[in-house]
Amino acid sequence: MDEISKLMIEQLKDAHSAEKQALRAMQKMAKQATNEKLKQGIQMHMEQTEGQIERLEQGLERLGGKPGRKVCEAMRGLVEEANHEMGENDKGAMMDVVLIAAAQRIEHYEIAAYGTMATLAKSAGQQELARLLGETLAEEKRMDEELTRIAESEVNRTWIEECRAEEQEMESANENRRGGARRKAS
Ligand SMILES: [Fe+2]
Repeated sequence: MDEISKLMIEQLKDAHSAEKQALRAMQKMAKQATNEKLKQGIQMHMEQTEGQIERLEQGLERLGGKPGRKVCEAMRGLVEEANHEMGENDKGAMMDVVLIAAAQRIEHYEIAAYGTMATLAKSAGQQELARLLGETLAEEKRMDEELTRIAESEVNRTWIEECRAEEQEMESANENRRGGARRKAS
């Protein structure tokens, strides 16, 4: 087997491991999400991810490789961080913000990986493989954009409003206390 195919196989195996780990992480993330759009967005991307795993298997087959036991360490780190964050927070507005932060880190890593792999496949004259990887790349980019939309339109706003309402409540409670103290003093 030539050097180019060997390297491409390694990268596809890495991506295969990354997607499998991401899929498990998204299962947990969907359970922790409160916002309905966020939950649905994650679930929709889980279905897409199953297709992406199939594309990677097709790509590996084309090159004469197999998924194997390679573990994507970068995704392992990203998932570890996501799990840690999920353990630290309760379900609710802030958890949703944290979930988007973790999910976008994962998507950006995937965008980097598929972008590089698609370009390499194209450079090597592997048009069909480049097409498969390009399809996944487009899905990852759409997911990232969708997460930004959900953050802007709902999740961030909900959390920030909640924080401000809480601050105001604390302020008026303090004022009441101060007022009470003044009344006592006079
Ligand atoms: Fe993804």
